[in-house]
Amino acid sequence: MAIAEKPTDDIIQVDGLQKHFGDVKAVNGITFRVRHGEVFGLLGPNGAGKTTTIKTLLGLLEPTAGIVRVFGLDPLKDEVLVKQRLGYVAEEPLIYKSLTPVEVFDFIASVRELDGVEVSTKAREYMESLGATEYANRSVATLSRGNRQKVQIVSALLHDPALLIMDDPLLGLDAKTVKVVKEIIDLHTRRGGAVIFSTHIMEVAQELCDRIAIINNGVIVGMGTFDELRKQADKAGANLEDVFLRLTEQDASVSSIIAKLRESFEQRERRE
Ligand SMILES: Nc1ncnc2c1ncn2[C@@H]1O[C@H](COP(=O)(O)OP(=O)(O)O)[C@@H](O)[C@H]1O
Ligand SMILES: [Mg+2]
Repeated sequence: MAIAEKPTDDIIQVDGLQKHFGDVKAVNGITFRVRHGEVFGLLGPNGAGKTTTIKTLLGLLEPTAGIVRVFGLDPLKDEVLVKQRLGYVAEEPLIYKSLTPVEVFDFIASVRELDGVEVSTKAREYMESLGATEYANRSVATLSRGNRQKVQIVSALLHDPALLIMDDPLLGLDAKTVKVVKEIIDLHTRRGGAVIFSTHIMEVAQELCDRIAIINNGVIVGMGTFDELRKQADKAGANLEDVFLRLTEQDASVSSIIAKLRESFEQRERRE
């Protein structure tokens, strides 16, 4: 099975990673590890630097500074080796729009040199569990974002990768599909695989992750298990939701936005 890796080593090692785009310090010195059998979450608001971090793991972006290792390899130098062992679900499902899902899966099987029969069985089972069977032979271009996302998720799983990298994988999925994707993640880690994914929703991180890094403005502002983070919050006499909002500087803007909304509602009511 493709999933077996050396169990002692960290699957992902990120040390002092920086990625700047001109003046924009998208990622500004972050350090973390992802271990075997672990679900690791990057939790932070829009623009925090989650996608940028993930793209450096895939060798899609070159770090400005710092070290990134995946399976102990440099994704920029050993791109092929690294990509053989991971499955990637991108933030924007931009996959071969002129093909149908079945054609996409066949294409992946041929590029990855996988057994065609095995892949089509696996793909059919995954598509069924995600409630997408009826879309299997329609062109990807005609599918909704959610269904395209399902095709992307199935595509990432076909070669049984040891590592799943998922950039906001639940975005645009309905509640039932979210449950199935959570189950897929769980099964994957029970077989010793690791997962890193990003989200801006604290409950999602709480439910799915063994460890969470809270990221804001390109730096990690808190890291640990959900319980550890909650204990730190308790000690400070607050609940984690408030701490998360405070750490990611969303608290002030949230209350001012709500205050403004209320005010304009009240003004409108007075006018009517
Ligand atoms: N190619 C790019 N050029 C310039 N700025 C970028 C680029 N990609 C991302 N950024 C900026 O870097 C910051 C982090 O973006 P991103 O990593 O996409 O955040 P997240 O995924 O957490 O929402 C944002 O301010 C974003 O506008
Ligand atoms: Mg993003």
